[in-house]
Amino acid sequence: MVPAASIRRRFGPSAAAAIASLALAACGGGNGEGAPDGTSADEAADPAAGKRIYVDQGCGTCHALEAAGSTGSVGPDLDAALRRDAERSGKPLDEFVRESIVDPDVFVAPGFKAGVMPQTFGGELSDQELADLVAFLTQS
Ligand code: HEC
Repeated sequence: MVPAASIRRRFGPSAAAAIASLALAACGGGNGEGAPDGTSADEAADPAAGKRIYVDQGCGTCHALEAAGSTGSVGPDLDAALRRDAERSGKPLDEFVRESIVDPDVFVAPGFKAGVMPQTFGGELSDQELADLVAFLTQS
């Protein structure tokens, strides 16, 4: 690395400051990358991909959700129910939604029956797909 003093001498003080802040930005850039164990999968979650999964998996045949244009009424209206039921379950919204997809009977939405929502999504969807789907549902 060229000493700052010599940069200052050659290019002036503002160039030295700009180079110093670039160097800092480069060094600090390691944060925020998804951990390989999937603990921060949410950071890389892609709501647009989640919407495709919602459509492909047929969630809309049972659920209403404005962002997907679906009007199913076998299960709860997801626009209205998610925040309310996350609060009832005492869990953070994203955790509640993920659990409701992987293990629907842990919390059964008031007015609906257990055993209607397929129990198989947890096995069929990868962690990434689940994270995308949760991102779509919690952001829409
Ligand atoms: C065959 C109909 C059916 C399909 C298909 C279906 N669900 Fe459901 N879902 C339900 C029913 C019924 C409930 C309410 C009972 C319960 O909470 O388990 C429910 C509950 C939920 C809840 C919790 C809602 C709340 O407020 O408690 C979420 C989230 C959810 N479904 C998401 C999905 C997603 C995402 C898909 C597609 C991957 C999907 N569902 C596919 C019928 C379905």
